[in-house]
Amino acid sequence: MTKLDLSELQTTLAQKNPRAILKQALQQFDNIAISFSGAEDVVLIDMALAIRKDIQVFSLDTGRLHPETYRFIEKVRKHYHIDIELLTPDRNTLDAFVKNKGLFSFYEDGHQECCGIRKVEPLKRKLAHLDAWITGQRKDQSLDTRQNLPEVQWDTAFGSEDHPLVKFNPLANWTSAQVWDHIEAYQVPYNELHSKGYISIGCEPCTRPVLPNQHERAGRWWWEEGTKKECGLHAGNVKH
Ligand code: ADX
Ligand code: SF4
Repeated sequence: MTKLDLSELQTTLAQKNPRAILKQALQQFDNIAISFSGAEDVVLIDMALAIRKDIQVFSLDTGRLHPETYRFIEKVRKHYHIDIELLTPDRNTLDAFVKNKGLFSFYEDGHQECCGIRKVEPLKRKLAHLDAWITGQRKDQSLDTRQNLPEVQWDTAFGSEDHPLVKFNPLANWTSAQVWDHIEAYQVPYNELHSKGYISIGCEPCTRPVLPNQHERAGRWWWEEGTKKECGLHAGNVKH
């Protein structure tokens, strides 16, 4: 793919609703996939299937997801009759890491190393074969890191001059309430953890329910400060 001029597309998609952004993404790119976390970003799958039946969906199976999330991924697969590709960490790297540092080193020296092995490297492998990918990130998910999230952007973390990679964030302008309105209105299946007080859902040891009035991100990597709460999937959100 030759490097296209994204600024025009950015202008076209600015402040557009998720359906319009998804439609543009799925019509413009054939080799594009949805990155599904097993949480409320299921709305992306629901909306995408109304545009195109042959969507590609993948999830990063870190090996540390909640049982509820594994059950939910399976439920989504069956409900929509789609394949969900599960990407697993490199076995040798993971074996060496666990042997060396055990299963909970992130509580002591931060989540970057474990996320690097369990999420970032498998994602990197997948993205190397795509022209574009779609995430469920929203501005309202983080005051610290997602306030300036664009609807479409160059992925400079995983793409390069030789392999330009476009990243679409169709839910960027939606609030959590709008996502949940869609889930309810269209009877979209959801992760049962949401009924147990969880809002943002990641790996089991690094996610906990939030208290009333706490921000959703407070339930992720709660032992670290807000500006560090990006695991490398969306490294471009963190300003250095
Ligand atoms: S994270 O970087 O902090 O873990 P978050 O949970 O907010 O991300 O999810 C934002 C988006 O990142 C999701 O909508 C999804 O597109 C992608 N994502 C996060 N976790 C995963 C996962 N395990 N598998 C696939 N995509 C994921
Ligand atoms: Fe490891 Fe926690 Fe990152 Fe999951 S979220 S990959 S368990 S540090």
